[in-house]
Amino acid sequence: MRKEEIEMELAKHTDTILSFPNRGPWGDSRYRGNCSGWIPAYFINKYHAKRVAEVFAGSGTTYDVCRDMGVRYVGIDLNPNPPRDGILSMDILDDAMELPDGFYDADMVFLHPPYPSIHNVRYAGNMWQDTDGTRILRDIQEMNFEDGMKAVNHAVLRAYNAMPAGSYEVCLVGEIRAKGEYRSMMQNLAIPGILHQTFIKLQHNTVSGRRTYSGSSDFALTGHEMIAVIKKPSGYELAFVMPKRYSMDIRDSQMATWKDVVMAAVRNLGGASNNEEIYAALEHHAKAAANVNWKAKIRQTLQKLAQSGLITHVGTGQWAAA
Ligand SMILES: C[S@@+](CC[C@H](N)C(=O)[O-])C[C@H]1O[C@@H](n2cnc3c(N)ncnc32)[C@H](O)[C@@H]1O
Repeated sequence: MRKEEIEMELAKHTDTILSFPNRGPWGDSRYRGNCSGWIPAYFINKYHAKRVAEVFAGSGTTYDVCRDMGVRYVGIDLNPNPPRDGILSMDILDDAMELPDGFYDADMVFLHPPYPSIHNVRYAGNMWQDTDGTRILRDIQEMNFEDGMKAVNHAVLRAYNAMPAGSYEVCLVGEIRAKGEYRSMMQNLAIPGILHQTFIKLQHNTVSGRRTYSGSSDFALTGHEMIAVIKKPSGYELAFVMPKRYSMDIRDSQMATWKDVVMAAVRNLGGASNNEEIYAALEHHAKAAANVNWKAKIRQTLQKLAQSGLITHVGTGQWAAA
């Protein structure tokens, strides 16, 4: 496609909702998880990028867009036989391998990582031949969500380390609902540098979009993906936000109030419970251990909860959730 035609189409998009019903003549629509070429094209145009680098180059969508827009390109993918000459075979998780020089003077790096844990999509041994039989172990698509996100974040940080100050890192990530669980890649994404802006990419013609969900489900059909644009402010600083999951018993939490823990105990004991049972439920936990008057505190909290109607006083020293 001619550069002028591309720019004319892109000029119609003025806000952070990116909707391109056609994927354009770039890359390969049969390659699973391929993205519309209009997405890299939009950001190349927006940031006036002249040198683009890409991790997870896939079927060559961004390569083809750069060719048509007259932009220099280098990409990497785990595929041992990449489909374009500007794409090198490389495992982004192998730190013994350096990124190509083109990452070090890129003004934009694009990443469209696999959506780990969607197992009906396969790269190693399916979209490309796993020639030595070991790539399947390094294929992020094959990993569970937690390991896959660690790998994706490793890729985000590696690309960021290489980028020069002032450049943009554009990450297109999916919102996954698989096997009854909803997982947001965006919410688990590492953000080095400055989160410059986020965008929503509307989904068109996806397999999940053709599915019919029962109207009674409390899930809406996923109709979008997310794009995070990160900007690198300076040369040496490596600052990043990396989401981490914390899990503990609320009775041991420093920030849970007496109202929170007593209410949790009454609810969990179920039916009617007496003071002794409520003491026992809280006794061996950090909240009680930190207060010498913990029994009095529990009784006082129970009184207040009963006054506000959240629990009911069902007999002497007997309580139930309302
Ligand atoms: C969602 S696809 C990218 C599709 C691409 N945007 C397109 O339009 O064709 C993700 C790519 O990540 C590659 N990949 C998976 N694990 C990798 C790894 N460890 N290192 C580098 N690439 C990897 C897969 O081979 C796949 O091509």
